[in-house]
Order: sequence, then structure tokens, then C-alpha cells
Amino acid sequence: MKPVKVGICGLGTVGGGTFNVLSKNANDIARRAGREIIIAQVATRHPNPNVDTGDVAVTDNVMDVINNPEIDIVIELIGGYTIAKEVVLGAIANGKHVVTANKALIAVHGAEIFAAAEAKGVSVMYEAAVAGGIPIIKAIREGLAANRINWLAGIINGTGNFILTEMRDKGRDFADVLKEAQELGYAEADPTFDVEGIDAAHKLTILASIAYGIPLQFERCYTEGISKITQEDVEYADELGYRIKHLGISRRGENGIDLRVHPTMIPVARPIAKVDGVLNAVMVNGDAVGDTLYVGAGAGAGPTASAVVADVIDLARTMDAPATAAVNHLAFDTIEKTYVLP
Ligand code: HSE
Repeated sequence: MKPVKVGICGLGTVGGGTFNVLSKNANDIARRAGREIIIAQVATRHPNPNVDTGDVAVTDNVMDVINNPEIDIVIELIGGYTIAKEVVLGAIANGKHVVTANKALIAVHGAEIFAAAEAKGVSVMYEAAVAGGIPIIKAIREGLAANRINWLAGIINGTGNFILTEMRDKGRDFADVLKEAQELGYAEADPTFDVEGIDAAHKLTILASIAYGIPLQFERCYTEGISKITQEDVEYADELGYRIKHLGISRRGENGIDLRVHPTMIPVARPIAKVDGVLNAVMVNGDAVGDTLYVGAGAGAGPTASAVVADVIDLARTMDAPATAAVNHLAFDTIEKTYVLP
């Protein structure tokens, strides 16, 4: 089969990781995709010291990638709402498939983006937007597709979990651990998103939309972060036999579906209480399957790139079969009408 050509927009932590995974595992990836996947162009304003772009064309203008007629799939790894939105909508308008790790963009502008993609018959894939390397979108949308989902809950911000873990295990200062999370490439460009629960709220919005077939409604999510958690809180919880974890929780109730992110006291015996560091964990309960639990690294170059490249491989396998495109979008035809805040 004809090789698939991708263009990567953004060569930061995740962009660099994606470039490296696509290059290093090219042979295995080609076997799994059934065709070669070639990086045709990269757009970045800053070189990444961890990436050797070799012969790959590099531009500082994202429009070059969007308008490159050779490119089949645009991988948007810029983050944020502004340029990233232009890149995604521009790529769709040019008939290109899109893979993105941008949870803020999907949670806030997803409806507009999916409608544009639907109209053009292209796919927008976003496995990397939630819980880093855990294939949680695929698990809910495909693995649990037979179920009526009753609830889901989990640790869905790696930076926050890393901070809480280091505060408890090593008595470290909040600001000091946050700085390390930034250096390790875990934190958002604006780390307020991590510590105030906004990033987790974006992710919960996306998970709930897939799990229950509801529209993306980020503004309906109750959002509280970990910035007010003190060392004393962590120590008292420990003494009482609990761990403080920042959770995203969504439950189907009589009046609709609630969405909330906030710190939670969890008994130490619970599996999720033992999920430490940058790990994320998501529990999903379905009426047929019962409880399921998914654990893995929630942030960082390798884990996030793993999810990005999986989407690229998925697209490479299916993109020439037009009927598959629609399944990549949200299930808007099973909308729940009512919502309640907790
Ligand atoms: N800042 C995010 C986190 C990155 O720490 O979970 C992965 O989405």
C-alpha cells in the first residue's frame, strides 16, 4: 500500500517524543499499519535538543504543513486554543486527517471541530488527550462499547499526582515539586491548568462525552484543584489511613450526569490509593462488565507519544475506507438531556 505521510506541528515534549517513536519504531509501526508511515514535514519555532530531524523538512510556519499537498495526516502538538485551533480546522478544510493530544482544544471546541471533520469526511483522533499512555478512549469507545456506562473515576492529571506523591513520600514543598514536574515535561505550558484542576476537567469532559454519548460541556464540570492542599493535610490523611488523590468523577444519576474534579480522601487499601507519581488510573463501571481499571503513565514524552502514534497507525489502517471515518467522532445521537452539578 502507498505510504502515509504525516506532518508534525510542534516539536516540544510530545512533538519530540512522537518524532522519535515514529523514527525509532518505524519498521514495527509499518508492519502494524500495513504501510510505511513517513514524517514528511515538521513545523517548529524552537529546535528540540532531544530530536535529530535528519533529512526531514523543517519549517517555522505551521501553514506550510497544513498546505503541504503531500501530507495525509496533520499531528497537532502545539497545545492551547489559538494557533492549535487554526491548525486543526485548517488541516480539516484541506481534507487532511488530524491527530491531536490537545485536551483543552477538544473539550472546549470539539463540537465545532468534529462537525467540520464530519462535513469533510476526515477523522480527528485524540487518544493522547486523556491519561497520556493509557488507551482509555479506545477502552471506553471500543472495548466497553457493549455497556451502558454507570460511572467513571480516576486520577487524570499526572503533574498533580506527582506533586501529592512527593509531598507525602518525601515531605517536599509543593512549589519545588511543581518546578520538577515542569522540567520533566509533565506540566502544561500554564501549570495553573494542572494545579487548579482545569486540565483534569478538560479530560473528564472528553471521557464523559464518549462514555455517555453526551455533548462536550466543559463549563458544566465542577472544578477544584490541589493548590490549597498543605503538607499537614497530607500528613493527617496518612495518619487516618487515607491518601489524598485528585480525582475526576462522573456518575449517571436520576437527574442526569455529574462531572466533578476535586481532591478526595481514599482509604489506603483501595487500588487507586496506591497509584503514585506521574501514573494515572481510570476506573470505569459498565452494566455488563462491572468494574474495570486502567493504569499507566499519564504524562511525559514517551507515554503521550505512544498514544499519538497509535492514533496515526489506526488512521493509516482505516483512512482509505471512508465508512470508518464517522466512528472516530463522538456519538452525538445518544445525548442525555439533563445535567446536575454536585
Ligand atoms: N499536564 C498533563 C498532566 C499532561 O500532568 O497530566 C498530560 O495530559
